[in-house]
Amino acid sequence: MAQLWGGRFTKETDQLVYNFNASISFDQKFYAQDIRGSIAHVTMLAEQGILTDKEKEQIVDGLQGILKDVQEGTLKISDKYEDIHSFVEATLIERIGEAGKKLHTGRSRNDQVALDMKLYTRDEIDSLDELLKELLKVLLQIMKENTETFMPGFTHLQKAQPITLAHHMGAYFEMFNRDRSRLNDIYDRMNYCPLGSGALAGTTYPLDRNLTAELLGFYGPTLNSMDSVADRDYLIELLSAMATIMMHLSRFSEEVIIWNSNEYRFVEIDDAYSTGSSIMPQKKNPDIAELVRGKTGRVYGALMSLLTTMKGIPLAYNKDMQEDKEFVFDAIDTTKGCLALFTGMLRTMNFNKEVMENSAKNGFTNATDAADYLVNHGVAFRDAHGIVGQLVLYCIEKDIPLDDMTLEEYKAISPVFEEDIYEAISMKTCVDKRTTIGAPSKEAMEKVIKIYENYLH
Ligand code: ARG
Repeated sequence: MAQLWGGRFTKETDQLVYNFNASISFDQKFYAQDIRGSIAHVTMLAEQGILTDKEKEQIVDGLQGILKDVQEGTLKISDKYEDIHSFVEATLIERIGEAGKKLHTGRSRNDQVALDMKLYTRDEIDSLDELLKELLKVLLQIMKENTETFMPGFTHLQKAQPITLAHHMGAYFEMFNRDRSRLNDIYDRMNYCPLGSGALAGTTYPLDRNLTAELLGFYGPTLNSMDSVADRDYLIELLSAMATIMMHLSRFSEEVIIWNSNEYRFVEIDDAYSTGSSIMPQKKNPDIAELVRGKTGRVYGALMSLLTTMKGIPLAYNKDMQEDKEFVFDAIDTTKGCLALFTGMLRTMNFNKEVMENSAKNGFTNATDAADYLVNHGVAFRDAHGIVGQLVLYCIEKDIPLDDMTLEEYKAISPVFEEDIYEAISMKTCVDKRTTIGAPSKEAMEKVIKIYENYLH
C-alpha cells in the first residue's frame, strides 16, 4: 500500500478496502497521457513563476525518464500504488527528491484524471477514425470494381429488385462514413481542457489555463470547474458512437454470414479468415463475422453501464466515476479489434459474381419493371400490378423466369405486351434505368463514387 494521502489518518487502510478502492490495475493504460499532462502542468507552473525553471527542468527530465523506462519495460508499474497518478508522482519523488514533491501544486487528482481520460480517448478517437477510413477504402475499391455486378436487393430478406454489388457496398459506405462524422463531432465537443479545475473549485494559484490547454492541443480551457471534474458526457457519446459502429458491423456481419452460407454462396470468406469444425471435416465457418456480431453486445453493455453509473451522481467528483474506465477501455479495444478484423475479412473475401447475378435473375426481381412497362403503355399502375401478378403465378407454375416466357404467353395475359418487353425487363435495363442520384445504375453510382473519393482524399 502506498498512498498520496494519510496525514489525517491514524490507522492503516484495511487491505480489502485498499484493493477495492485501487484503480492501478486498469488506469495504468494511460500512463503516457498522465505524464504528458504533468509535463504541460509544470511547464505552465514555471511560466507563471510558481515553480523555478530549475525545478521544472528536474521534474520534466524525471517524468521523461519514467516514460521512457515504462515504455522500454525497465520500470514496472507496481500495484502497490493506488492509481497511476500516485505511481508516477511517487516514482518521481523517489528519483529526483524534493522538486518532485512540487509536481502536484495547483492540481487535484480529480482534474488530473479528467484530463488523462480525455487525452486517452482523444487519441483513441483518432485511431478509430483511421480504422474506419481503412474500411471505407476497401468498400470504395469494391464499389469501383462492381458497378455492373448485378445482385438481388432484398426487403424482408425476400428478393425485391435488382441492384449492383457496388450499390449494396455503398449503403455500408454511408453508414461508416456517418460513424466517422459522429466521432468528429464528439472530438470537437470534448476537446476542451479540464486541467486547472482542481478538485472542484479551481485553485488559488495564478494558473494559466489557456497555456496548458494549448500545450496539450485543446481548443481552450473548460469554463466551469465543477462540470470539468464531473463531466463524463463525452465518454457516453463515444460509447454511443461505438455502439453504432458495432451495430453497423453486426448488420454487415449478418449479411456476410448469410451470403457465405451453403444456400446463398454469394461470397466465400478467405481461408485465413475462416475456421473449421473439430468434428465435421467439411465445415468452413464464418466465426469472425459471428464474433463481431456477438461482441456488439459488450459495447452496448458498456454504454448502458456508464449511463447508469452517472445517473445519480451529485456534483462534483464522486468515486463512482472511477467506474468509467474499464468498460470504456474494453469497448474501445473491442471496437478497434472488430473494425480491423472485419476490414481484413472484407478485403480478402471472394464475391461469386455469377451466383449473385443468377440469383437476381431468378427471383422475379424485374416484376416491378414489367409493371412499369405496362404503365408506360397506358395501363394504370394498379391494373399493371395485377397483370404482372398473374405473370408471376404462371411462371412459378412453369418454374421459369419472366424473361423465358414467349411473347404468345405474354399476350395471352395482356395484349399490351410487345417484343420490346424482353429488353425492358432485362436486368441491365432494370438497373440502368435507375439513374436518380442514390440509385444503382452505373451512371448514378459513378457520380457517388467521385464524391466518396473526395471524402477519403
Ligand atoms: N482513480 C481515480 C479515478 O479514476 C482518480 C481520482 C481520484 N480522486 C479522488 N478524489 N479520490 O476516478
